[in-house]
Amino acid sequence: MRKKITVVGAGNVGATLAQRVAERDYADVVLVDIVEGLPQGKALDLLEAGPVLGYDSNVIGTNSYEETADSSIVVITSGLARKPGMSRDDLVRANQKIVTDVTEQVVKQSPDTILIVVTNPLDAMVQLAYHVSKFPKGRVIGMAGVLDTARFRTFIAQEVGASVRDVQAYVMGGHGDTMVPLLSLTTVAGVPVTDLIPADRLASIVQRTRDGGAEIVNLLKTGSAFYAPSASVLAMVDSIMYDKKQILPCSVLLNGEYGIHDLFVGVPAKLGSGGVEQVVEVKLNDADRAALQRSANSVKELIEVMGL
Ligand code: LAC
Repeated sequence: MRKKITVVGAGNVGATLAQRVAERDYADVVLVDIVEGLPQGKALDLLEAGPVLGYDSNVIGTNSYEETADSSIVVITSGLARKPGMSRDDLVRANQKIVTDVTEQVVKQSPDTILIVVTNPLDAMVQLAYHVSKFPKGRVIGMAGVLDTARFRTFIAQEVGASVRDVQAYVMGGHGDTMVPLLSLTTVAGVPVTDLIPADRLASIVQRTRDGGAEIVNLLKTGSAFYAPSASVLAMVDSIMYDKKQILPCSVLLNGEYGIHDLFVGVPAKLGSGGVEQVVEVKLNDADRAALQRSANSVKELIEVMGL
């Protein structure tokens, strides 16, 4: 039997992700949303693209959760998106209720699934899903670092005129204004980025990365980014489905790693068929370690807002 991947939320991120997953042809896709007709319409449209593109993935749209039963992976994208001028943190209360409801429903149908959370404010919502699901920590993962790192890599590749494939980088910390692009670990084909780009240009690339989500929100006026976010989730889904054991920056529960306790924060993690198989501890300089701690502290404040 084919494996099943559920995407909750048929908005831009969810629907684009459903498309990307269907095109992979390694699993059937269930698209869930509360809006009547929306997931059904998008799913049928995706299904009808199969003969043209050559995939046999079944794609089902639904307003209920029965069809999601026994999913290998469930991606939660539901929630309100940011409007111009809104921070991710403004979303916390509204999305707390949505993510709680969704997680409860999902877990009832798929007690052994791996949860990937995309809803903002990201790190707080992953912590919430962990709390509500009562899953082991390796089966609850937040998508942010792959996206933030992709933005950082894009800007560096543009600056030096290199292929994005040659830019190796990590952005750690929370998915917010305090995220930590690690210059000391950023290279272009093995050459330290600090040898290639002057400090003031690098500082503005770091700032543009931190503001990467808002830059798109301001351009779009309504809604937020979805092509790069859905591609970033797909990288995580691929690593799990193919058991690739890729090391990707993800929001995972830290239990002492990097000196942080009982908190979901973005760090490099090895993803395989079991979910998070290892939290990778890279050596940080003092400034980056302090910045990571500051970022963790701002995640903690949101957790307190939610009363967890
Ligand atoms: C972004 C939003 C999705 O970073 O947080 O684009």
